[in-house]
Amino acid sequence: MNINFIIDFDSTFIKVESLDELSKIVLKNNPNKSKIVANIKKITKQGMEGKIDFPTSLQKRLLLFNPTMKDIEILRKNLEKQISKSIIRNKHFFVENSKNIYVISGGFEEYIVPILKDFGIKKNHVLANKFIYNKKQKVIGFDKKMLLSKEKGKVKAVRKLDLKGTTYIIGDGYTDYEIKKEGLAYKFIAFTENIKRKNVIDVADEKISSFDEFLFMLNMPRAFSYPKSKMKVLLLENIEQKTVATFRNEGYAVDFLKTALSEDDLLKKIEDVSILGIRSKTDVTEKVFKKAKKLLAIGAFCIGTNQIDLQVALNQGVAVFNAPYSNTRSVVEMVIAEIILLYRQLFEKSLNAHKGIWDKSAKNSHEVRGKTLGIVGYGNIGTQLSVVAETLGMDVVFYDIQEKLTLGNAKKCSSLNELLKISDVVTIHVDGAKSNSNLIGKNEFALMKKNALFINASRGHVVDISALEQVLGSGRIAGAAIDVFPEEPRGNNDSFFSPLQQISNVILTPHIGGSTIEAQRNIGEFVGKKLMQFIDNGSTMLSVNFPELQLPDYPNAHRLIHIHKNIPGVLSKINTVLAKGNVNILGQYLKTKNEIGYVISDVNTGYNKEIIKKLSEIKGTIKLRVLY
Ligand code: NAI
Repeated sequence: MNINFIIDFDSTFIKVESLDELSKIVLKNNPNKSKIVANIKKITKQGMEGKIDFPTSLQKRLLLFNPTMKDIEILRKNLEKQISKSIIRNKHFFVENSKNIYVISGGFEEYIVPILKDFGIKKNHVLANKFIYNKKQKVIGFDKKMLLSKEKGKVKAVRKLDLKGTTYIIGDGYTDYEIKKEGLAYKFIAFTENIKRKNVIDVADEKISSFDEFLFMLNMPRAFSYPKSKMKVLLLENIEQKTVATFRNEGYAVDFLKTALSEDDLLKKIEDVSILGIRSKTDVTEKVFKKAKKLLAIGAFCIGTNQIDLQVALNQGVAVFNAPYSNTRSVVEMVIAEIILLYRQLFEKSLNAHKGIWDKSAKNSHEVRGKTLGIVGYGNIGTQLSVVAETLGMDVVFYDIQEKLTLGNAKKCSSLNELLKISDVVTIHVDGAKSNSNLIGKNEFALMKKNALFINASRGHVVDISALEQVLGSGRIAGAAIDVFPEEPRGNNDSFFSPLQQISNVILTPHIGGSTIEAQRNIGEFVGKKLMQFIDNGSTMLSVNFPELQLPDYPNAHRLIHIHKNIPGVLSKINTVLAKGNVNILGQYLKTKNEIGYVISDVNTGYNKEIIKKLSEIKGTIKLRVLY
C-alpha cells in the first residue's frame, strides 16, 4: 500500500518560523527591531491559529521588512542548524522514503529547497512560495500565482498533488490540520517537539512530541526503538529545574514533584516509569521494584544510595547512578572555613560583638599556617581537602584503611592512633559504613593533643557525641565543628537538639557541608547526563551497581543490550543466536561485575522479533534492550 507523508516545514521540520528568523536578520541593526519583530510574531501567530487568512498574513509580514538575496542566504545557513532534533536523527527515513514525502510551507522555496536536498527531497516535492526580487536583489513581494500564497493554500497545493494511497500530514499549525479536514489526508498528526498549540492539538488525530514517535506508531525503522516521548521520567524531591528542563527538551515525558514520596504513593506511580530521579528522602524498596516493570535506571541526585535497595536493583537489571564528587569542593571549603573560624574563635567573638561586648585580645587565637591537619578518610573529600589545606601552609597527615596515593606533601600515618597523637586539627571524612560507628570515642579523644580542634562533616554515627561533649566541656579539646549528627531532624520545621549546644567554640551546622548552589547544579548536571547516556547509548560509567562501560556511538548499527546473571556461557549463547539468525556483529562489549553481566552487541540487522525473542529466552537473561 502506498503511504504519503506531508510534513510541514516551519516549527516542524525546523525548530523555528522561518519568516520570523528572516526578519531578525534583516532588522539586526534597526533601532525599532524589537517592536517590528514582536509585530511580525503576532501576525505569524494569528495566521497559525487561523485568525487571519494566509495571504494577508504573508503580505503584512513582508511589508514590515524588506529582505535581500543576501539576507536569504544567511537565513538558509542559520536554518540548516535549526533542524528539529528528532528529524535529524531520523534522516534515514527521509532519504529512504523521499519519493513519498512532500514538505509544505507558507515560507519560500529559495531557502527550503537547499535545506531539504541533503535529506533526499527534490524541488518538485517542496510545496512553498517564491520571492519576487527587484534589480537590486531586494524582495519586493511574492509570486501570487503560487498556490501556497493563496488562502487555504496548503489545501489547494495538496489537492493538486492528487495523491493515491494513505496520506499522513504532520505539522504544528491549524493550516496543516485543514488538509485533513478537507478530506485530503487519512490522519493529521500534531507535532509538538518545538511548539504546542492547544487549538491544533485539540483537533489532531494523534499528538507526537518527536518524529521517533510517529515512526514507532507506523512500526517503521527509527533512531530510537522506543521513543523518548513514550518514556516516563519521574523526578521527585525538587530536582534542579535545569535538569528537569533538559529531560523535557530531550523529549521525555516528565513528571516532576517537589516532595519525596512514601512507599505507598510511589507504588501508585511507579508502574509505567522508565527513569526515576530521587534524592535522599525517597526509599526505593523491594516492593517498589517489584511493581516497577518498566524501570531502566534510577538517578540518586545526591551522594548516598542507602535509600535504594541496590541488590534488588541489580537482580532486576536496573542501573543506579549517583553524584559521588559533585559536592566535594563545597564540603572542603566549609571545613577550611571552620578550621580558621575555630582557631580565631571568630564565631564567639562575632556573637559577642553583636551583643555589644568588645573582646579585643589575641588570647587563644592562632594562624593555621604551620599547624598539622590530620585527615581521617583520604577519599574524594579527604584528598581535595589535603590539597587546599596545603595551599594555606598547613602540614597534612592522613590515615585511610585503603592504600591511597599521597597528594602534594601530605604524609601517610600507619594508624589512626598515630594521626590522633600528632594532629593539631583532626577532621573526619570516612564513609558511612556501619563498621565506622563510634570510630571516634572516649579513647580516641584521649589520644588527641591538648587544645586540638575536632571536625566531623562525614556521618553522624561516626562520632560518640557524649564523649565529645565531655572533652569539650573539660576544655581538653579547644573547639569543634560538627555538621552531621547521630539523629537529625527530618525537615526544617522539626526542632533540633544536641548536647553540644551550650558549649563555647563549637560550630554546629545543619548538615550543609555539601549544600551550595554550585553543588546542586553539579549534581543535577552529572546525574542527568549519566542517565541520558545510559538511555541513549547504554554507557554505564560510574554506575553504583552496574559493570562500567563507556560505549562509543555506532550510527550505522543497531545496538542490543543484554543484561544477565553472571553465569558462564551467556556470551557464547548470545553469539550463537546472532550467528544462526544471520546477524553480523559489528562490535561487541562485555563487562561483568558481582552478580551481573552486561553485553552490548552492535549488529547490522534491524529489529527482528524472532532474534529478540530468542535472546531474551537465553537462561539467566534479566533484561534485553533494543536501543536503535
Ligand atoms: P569516599 O568514599 O570517597 O571516601 C571515604 C574514604 O574513607 C575512603 O577512602 C575509605 O577507604 C576511607 N575509610 C573508610 N573507613 C575508614 C576508617 N575506618 N578509617 C580510615 N579511613 C576509612 O567518600 P567522600 O566522598 O570523600 O565522602 C566522605 C564522607 O563525607 C562520607 O561519609 C559522606 O557521606 C560525607 N559527606 C558529607 C556531606 C555533608 O554535607 N556534610 C556531603 C558529602 C559527603
